[in-house]
Amino acid sequence: MSLKIAFTGTGYISKVHAQAAQALPDVELVAVVNHRPDSMQAFAQQFGISRQYATISDMLAAGGVDAVVISTPNALHAPETLAALNAGVHVIVEKPMALNADEARHMLVASEKSGAKLMVAHCWRFDAEVLWLKKQLETSGIGKIFRTKGYGVHVNWGPSGWFAQAKLAGGGALADMGIHAIDTARFLLGDPRPVSVYAKIGTYYKDFDVDDTGIIIVNWDNGATSYIESGWWQPHADGAEASTQLYGQSGFGQLFPTYTRILNPQTQQPETHESGFPAVRDPHCPQSMYDAQLAYFVDCIRHNQTPVPGGAEGLLNMQIVDAAYASSQSGKVVEIL
Ligand SMILES: NC(=O)c1ccc[n+]([C@@H]2O[C@H](COP(=O)([O-])OP(=O)(O)OC[C@H]3O[C@@H](n4cnc5c(N)ncnc54)[C@H](O)[C@@H]3O)[C@@H](O)[C@H]2O)c1
Repeated sequence: MSLKIAFTGTGYISKVHAQAAQALPDVELVAVVNHRPDSMQAFAQQFGISRQYATISDMLAAGGVDAVVISTPNALHAPETLAALNAGVHVIVEKPMALNADEARHMLVASEKSGAKLMVAHCWRFDAEVLWLKKQLETSGIGKIFRTKGYGVHVNWGPSGWFAQAKLAGGGALADMGIHAIDTARFLLGDPRPVSVYAKIGTYYKDFDVDDTGIIIVNWDNGATSYIESGWWQPHADGAEASTQLYGQSGFGQLFPTYTRILNPQTQQPETHESGFPAVRDPHCPQSMYDAQLAYFVDCIRHNQTPVPGGAEGLLNMQIVDAAYASSQSGKVVEIL
């Protein structure tokens, strides 16, 4: 039976998701929600969607939707997700999952209560290069990883509009970009739990009420420590979005360019294992990553499986983000219980 899918928000990433949905067999794009009729009309026309609504409640009241892709400003993630889950509609919600961990917890509970699936679009888990590196760690191995370095930084650029307003976005570069680096590090480490966070976060490049600069240090329960940089409008970055370096007991691995360098126990010399992906990605965030992400969401619905990354992973990331902001304010390490 075909799966009837809807979209909230008709901006940049919603179009990427709609394109992904169009490529899937037995998925029908049936409805769209936006507060701006013109943008909604254009989106509906582009993707052949017949039903248009000003609010998600109007759409849910009309029925006939199995799943919704939520790609609105962060402040709408929790209310729209809760409305959909409570109506028994499956949800994939964009990152960051919510404005804070409290909201994220309510979303996770609503999903558990209703039985409707909840996935959080931590898209880098579906990237071919990230998956190559993850597989290398499982097979050839760089040994136990003690530390990682990761980047979620825009160089000489940053978003504007709602992204730069605390009321609609919650946080700035950390919530927008740093969270990609945090989730990618966590995924490659095998999803350990965060134990404590130390961060220094500020706004130095523009005049807005969210952050544009951050250094975040996360200690995990498997003994590893991740160093993360977040930023907008930075003069430099050591790596592109979600770039991650892994320092293991018997070698090194990294993303973008992606390879491992492992110590040969016989020769005691390091040997490089190239991933074979081009050294420069163009575009850095390919449609294929989002296609794989949406295909997985639909698969979880069809096979009644809890998506990973789901509410639990999204919540942990929000706990790290909350702890980072709290640490930066107090100047102290914040424990995550
Ligand atoms: N995973 C990724 O690679 C990725 C990339 C971009 C954005 N995102 C996330 O997706 C979400 C949407 O980002 P985007 O880049 O598509 O944003 P966007 O500004 O391009 O689109 C936002 C959409 O929400 C609508 N909207 C509804 N209520 C609004 C309000 N009160 N104020 C402003 N707009 C309102 C806008 O009309 C627009 O259609 C964000 O949570 C963002 O963090 C993820």
